[in-house]
Amino acid sequence: MATLPIITAPDPRLKLKAQPVAAVDAEVRRLMDDMLETMKKAIGIGLAAPQVGVAKRVIVLDVAREGEPPQPLKLANPEILWRSQEQATFSEGCLSLPEHYADVTRPAKVRVRYLDYHNESRELEASGLLATSIQHEIDHLDGVLFVDHISMVKRSMILRKLAKAKRSRTPAAA
Ligand code: NI
Repeated sequence: MATLPIITAPDPRLKLKAQPVAAVDAEVRRLMDDMLETMKKAIGIGLAAPQVGVAKRVIVLDVAREGEPPQPLKLANPEILWRSQEQATFSEGCLSLPEHYADVTRPAKVRVRYLDYHNESRELEASGLLATSIQHEIDHLDGVLFVDHISMVKRSMILRKLAKAKRSRTPAAA
């Protein structure tokens, strides 16, 4: 397994629509394993393939709290089949928007169909933090970031700060 560089906003690769995988084969499994390792190293609870520069519909998650047994999830071609009327608000962060957080309101529960690590079609119903995280990660596959769910004023402020931070990290061209 390997850790992969995580792309941070603003970056056009985070705005692309990712393509479904034909099947979960050895290559996709390797991507899933590398993504999970990358996410854990970055102390994240979810990661989508576009965040590591791969425009495929693959996400990984682990919302287990510290001290709880790990609950890794590796999903390909995830598709939301049902959303609850009930809404929930969580303070969201994102490995591609480091150090920025904002309250986002989304459906409290979702049912999702996906291909698992063994290329089997499965469904899961999620609530709480897992429901929010799955929706956040599926958004990434459609080029949507959590800041796209908040006010334009707040979004512009966060993106401006990130662009500035990125410029100060990039060494001047020789
Ligand atoms: Ni994210």
